[in-house]
Amino acid sequence: MVRINPHYGKLQSSYLFSDIARRIAKFQEANPGRNIIRLGIGDVTQPLPPACIEAFHKAVDEMAMENNFRGYGPEQGYDFLREAISENDYHAVGADISPDEVFVSDGAKCDTGNFQELFASDAVIAVPDPVYPVYVDTNVMAGRTGAFVNGRYDGLVYLSSVRENNYVPALPDRPVDVIYLCFPNNPTGATATREQLSEWVAYARDHKALILFDAAYEAFIRDPEIPHSIFEIDGAREVAVEFRSFSKTAGFTGTRCAFTVIPKTCMVYDDAGNPSPLFNLWNRRHTTKFNGVSYPVQRAAAAIYTDKGKRQVRGLTDYYLKNARKIRGVISKLGFYCIGGDNSPYIWIQVNGDSWAFFDRLLNDAAVVTTPGSGFGSCGEGYIRISAFSQYEKVEEAMDRLQNILG
Ligand code: MLT
Repeated sequence: MVRINPHYGKLQSSYLFSDIARRIAKFQEANPGRNIIRLGIGDVTQPLPPACIEAFHKAVDEMAMENNFRGYGPEQGYDFLREAISENDYHAVGADISPDEVFVSDGAKCDTGNFQELFASDAVIAVPDPVYPVYVDTNVMAGRTGAFVNGRYDGLVYLSSVRENNYVPALPDRPVDVIYLCFPNNPTGATATREQLSEWVAYARDHKALILFDAAYEAFIRDPEIPHSIFEIDGAREVAVEFRSFSKTAGFTGTRCAFTVIPKTCMVYDDAGNPSPLFNLWNRRHTTKFNGVSYPVQRAAAAIYTDKGKRQVRGLTDYYLKNARKIRGVISKLGFYCIGGDNSPYIWIQVNGDSWAFFDRLLNDAAVVTTPGSGFGSCGEGYIRISAFSQYEKVEEAMDRLQNILG
């Protein structure tokens, strides 16, 4: 008899964005003529930058020639990409990260989801609330939580990110082992200052804890004071891992390429308290379970670091930030409190009522898809998230519709 992993039984019925997709499909079936505008899941709409396309084509052509053909690549990624990442994403901002501390992968969702398997089953996990559901659900699957009670899993330490703290959580009030942080934040769009990140690094160093820092949205930062990487903070190399993605930066959601940075000086501990490099554990896992991102995709990703690529990525992220400004302007004019959208593609809006009811109202009355805040955690109740990933004309149309029904 094959017995199921009992921890799956604790999960909510389905993944947030699958749930939303089902509601949209049902609405569309009932209203075949309605033109739905999707500002829910953060999926990009603009094509890959021309520099990436050019590099992609060239690499495919290389694969057609026997003397340039490539089979399995290094699981951790090709040197040309790891070197470009180390130079442009880290050395350029004064962060000391070497190419061999970079693990190229097929997504930050997969990496943030898989990373928890390196930790003891009784590790104490801290997550912000609201939070990207992947951090929580994967720890539930691994058996690190109890039951789901009143919107929270027993055993997890929730760090409330609310209006009173500007959506940057306070340090935990008890010792924790693993801390998930995401800035610019998904879903709130909040950013953390250098001082705030320094407090987290100091906490992690004091408690021999580990920070899992998700920086998937760093390319949207425009404020020069906001750090792009946790490794800009002194002391972070010993206590942090960083996840990055080409998805939102350069339109790779369908193409798949991301990376995780693990400094060789970052330590984790065995039962006797002996330190051991986290790098070795992830390297073991990565080489066992992953066979690398395809060569053409890595070539396409590396093209974002050329002068042309950098300009095009800036244009792409500026485009979505223009959408975000439009959304924020209209929503504020309608009298709602909101944050995000200035250094982030997400706008977090206080709607003061049931999140799902508000989501349904916007879907039914305006055919506009958003994401209900409560899907990201109990502190998200009373909020919705609007994503700026869409065409500008559609955003304008969606905002006209919202003004009509809410104005
Ligand atoms: C989101 O909408 O929160 C993201 O698109 C989800 C993801 O990146 O997996």
